[in-house]
Amino acid sequence: MRDARSEMPPLERLLVTGGCGFIGSHFVRLALRRPRTRLVVNLDALTYAGNPENLRDVEGDPRYRFAKGSVCDAERVDALVREGVDAIVHFAAESHVDRSLYGPVDFVRTNLEGTSVLLEAARRAGLRRFLQVSTDEVYGSLPREGRFRETTPLHPNNPYSTTKAAADLMVGAYVRTFGIDAVVTRSSNNYGPHQHPEKFIPLFISNALQDKPCPLYGDGMHVRDWLHVEDNARGIWAALAKGKGGRVYNLGGGNERPNLEVARAILRLLRKPESLVAFVQDRPGHDRRYAIDCSRARRDLGWTPRVSFERGLRDTVAWYRANPGWVERVRSGAYREYYARQYGDALRAAAGMPAASRETTPVRRRRT
Ligand SMILES: NC(=O)c1ccc[n+]([C@@H]2O[C@H](COP(=O)([O-])OP(=O)(O)OC[C@H]3O[C@@H](n4cnc5c(N)ncnc54)[C@H](O)[C@@H]3O)[C@@H](O)[C@H]2O)c1
Repeated sequence: MRDARSEMPPLERLLVTGGCGFIGSHFVRLALRRPRTRLVVNLDALTYAGNPENLRDVEGDPRYRFAKGSVCDAERVDALVREGVDAIVHFAAESHVDRSLYGPVDFVRTNLEGTSVLLEAARRAGLRRFLQVSTDEVYGSLPREGRFRETTPLHPNNPYSTTKAAADLMVGAYVRTFGIDAVVTRSSNNYGPHQHPEKFIPLFISNALQDKPCPLYGDGMHVRDWLHVEDNARGIWAALAKGKGGRVYNLGGGNERPNLEVARAILRLLRKPESLVAFVQDRPGHDRRYAIDCSRARRDLGWTPRVSFERGLRDTVAWYRANPGWVERVRSGAYREYYARQYGDALRAAAGMPAASRETTPVRRRRT
């Protein structure tokens, strides 16, 4: 196994999964900013959470290629891997805890089965690295004191975190059983532009902007450690390039805040009254506190979060204020029209069907 911080030869060709989602899209953009990157293939099923609009700005980059498909589709995954990639960076997931209470089986399929399909493809192809993007939620809930370390036993409490923990364990099994080179990152709660408005911070901002009630679970005293999405993307990049095979790296922002405090900060930034906070019944299995010790990532990867919570929240609020159309299209489902317009005719052409409209922009054929 490689020593931490002794950077391996650059991984130039990446298969990224779930790149149309919140964190994946920031990572794809970061990867394309790196001069050594020669190819980023983005495999995304475009579930309700996948929005190709999030990557509109990189579509013209000849090193970027979008592939619509599921991580559970072994043939599709194998075919993409065979085109020649050095590493898989795996973001694709069902990611919303609330939804996992209503449809846990979808979470098992995507989060556990999908990860297993990708691991199998990585093993067969002998890929140089597999990076599993995971979450601090696998550790469960903390009392008032203490922080999660990478050695903290896994104790997930809801179907989402349980499927993520199971996937992490499967990654470990592939490292020990088959000797693949895999690294896991476990980050705390992310925030920033392009996050789906079903999640706490964008839900609050977008509801408050429309003077609608902002629902807050329980007494609002659940504590999360907020990490700006760009800091997470940099941490994932550092773990990919410098992480030691078989290791887990916690990534946290060092910004522990009770949800009520975050809610009030958002309302202050928007100059909206606190009366918009609507306390709602707590959800079952709601973890009380997360806090993360990321000294290993600081020491071994030279990574440290750069965005202060105050600046990050101010910029995030400003982004949502400036982009009401993005939120509206996500909420109404109209963002799917963007995909149909952008890719529809090219996909029909690939299937030997006639074009539907003249306005469609065909996808340029890109070499992989
Ligand atoms: N958001 C957070 O605060 C947070 C914190 C820690 C870890 N994570 C992890 O980071 C990763 C990304 O989270 P996110 O918030 O960006 O999620 P997201 O819900 O915004 O995006 C998920 C993406 O995966 C795609 N996807 C879903 N099922 C798929 C399938 N079967 N095949 C291919 N693509 C599929 C969706 O279309 C979407 O583009 C997840 O693995 C999540 O568990 C998220």
